[in-house]
Amino acid sequence: METISQDVLAGAYLIASVSYILGLKMLGKPDTARRGNTIAAIGMTIAIFATIFLYSENGNPVGNKIFIFVALIIGTGIGVRAARTVQMTQMPEMVSLFNGMGGLCAALIGIIEIYHTQSTEKTKLLAICAGLVIGTISFSGSMIAWGKLTGRFSDKIFPMQQFLNLGLMTIILVMAGAIIFSPIVNPVMLYMELLLCVGYGILFVLPIGGADMPVVISLLNSFTGVAAACAGFLYNNMAMLTGGILVGSAGTILTILMCKAMNRSLTNVLIGAFKASGPKEVESDSGGHIKEVSLSDAAVMMSYAKKVMIVPGYGLAVAQAQHSCHELEKALEEKGVEVRYAIHPVAGRMPGHMNVLLAEADVSYSKLLEMDEANSEFATTDVVMILGANDVVNPAAKNNKLSPIYGMPILEVDHAHAVIVNKRSMNAGYAGIKNELFYEPQTSMLFGDAKKVLQQLVSEIKAN
Ligand code: TAP
Repeated sequence: METISQDVLAGAYLIASVSYILGLKMLGKPDTARRGNTIAAIGMTIAIFATIFLYSENGNPVGNKIFIFVALIIGTGIGVRAARTVQMTQMPEMVSLFNGMGGLCAALIGIIEIYHTQSTEKTKLLAICAGLVIGTISFSGSMIAWGKLTGRFSDKIFPMQQFLNLGLMTIILVMAGAIIFSPIVNPVMLYMELLLCVGYGILFVLPIGGADMPVVISLLNSFTGVAAACAGFLYNNMAMLTGGILVGSAGTILTILMCKAMNRSLTNVLIGAFKASGPKEVESDSGGHIKEVSLSDAAVMMSYAKKVMIVPGYGLAVAQAQHSCHELEKALEEKGVEVRYAIHPVAGRMPGHMNVLLAEADVSYSKLLEMDEANSEFATTDVVMILGANDVVNPAAKNNKLSPIYGMPILEVDHAHAVIVNKRSMNAGYAGIKNELFYEPQTSMLFGDAKKVLQQLVSEIKAN
């Protein structure tokens, strides 16, 4: 009987592992993402219930089932409520908070299991210490990231911070070695180690610019994955191991991709070459003149165009203007205009930000062009409508070697016949730098909140 239930348990873990891989693959495309998420969640549910009802150690089944179910119900309730009420612009905060909880779980497993492990089981102790250290750093780092994104903490840069971090990490590693090789678990040393890891997580994330948080969150995400994989290794639990490895590698790949799309190294993000975000530097109107366009002129320009390319950016997300943007698309299409969207990989503040926003407003995925595709179409585009984007269309990335964004691939909107830029003022974007595009002869500024401007534009176009 015991063998049968262990075989069923192994089968359940296999199903769960396959569901994670399938789910992750399906998350890569907007039209399959929802199903992918559901498949992975079903796999996880199977793994959890199989563990509760089938797992046994030395013939002893899992105890405390009532507590486990109470915790499951509370956790599910909180998770469902958070996922249903979160705003798209608050997504990085939520990911960060949930990620921190994952890190904390991995650390708690380490604290419990270290007392159940013999001092001779060095490999197990290594996995425990790795999970404990990485999980705790991920927990405290994610909490700081959450606090900064919600405006509870601000960026803190202090002297010698990199050296302090390096020193702290060295002490953490030395102490981990001492814990692994000591004949008995010394609680003082264990809790000192935990405290140092909490401190490291705080000091590591505190100086990083708020808008660089998505990169750091993704990195912390990969830490949590590795910590969970350590726990999976410890329990010989294949579902946990696969899940941890997938989260760890996906987080690492995403971190690298984000850095590439910003043309910055990870070290540069962590040390902070763009100034820490907070209040943005306002560029003075020193060089060149800007040209403003009225709502009615903008409406006419677009209505009589053959092809209009919309470039959404962070401002569109802030204004929650995605639905109005879709209305503009429909109004123009009724006039026979071809409308497409040019999506820069780091437009907005998190990976896929623009795709998710537009998908929420029912914009067809077939109309979204990735950067390279869009760049090849700008020369044949009559009007580019930029909605709350700035850095991702800044020609300084191509022309100005001294610019902090030099080398970042951009949407080459200046190749289009006319460019309309909607933003509220001449304030800079995330990188805090002036944008020469606004002073180009083919560019006109249409100032105002993206949502309001779009609503008025749609009315004008319909009235034309
Ligand atoms: P930004 O360069 O930040 O520009 C956004 C613009 O939107 C601002 O200039 C702002 O100007 C305008 N804006 C704000 N609220 C608005 C509103 N209600 N209505 C209209 N306009 C509004 O955005 P971007 O071009 O999308 O570039 C993203 C930046 O974030 C890049 O530098 C990128 O490297 C960085 N970043 C992105 C990611 C990911 S993964 N997406 C991760 C880390 C960093 P006004 O204040 O004048 O309105």
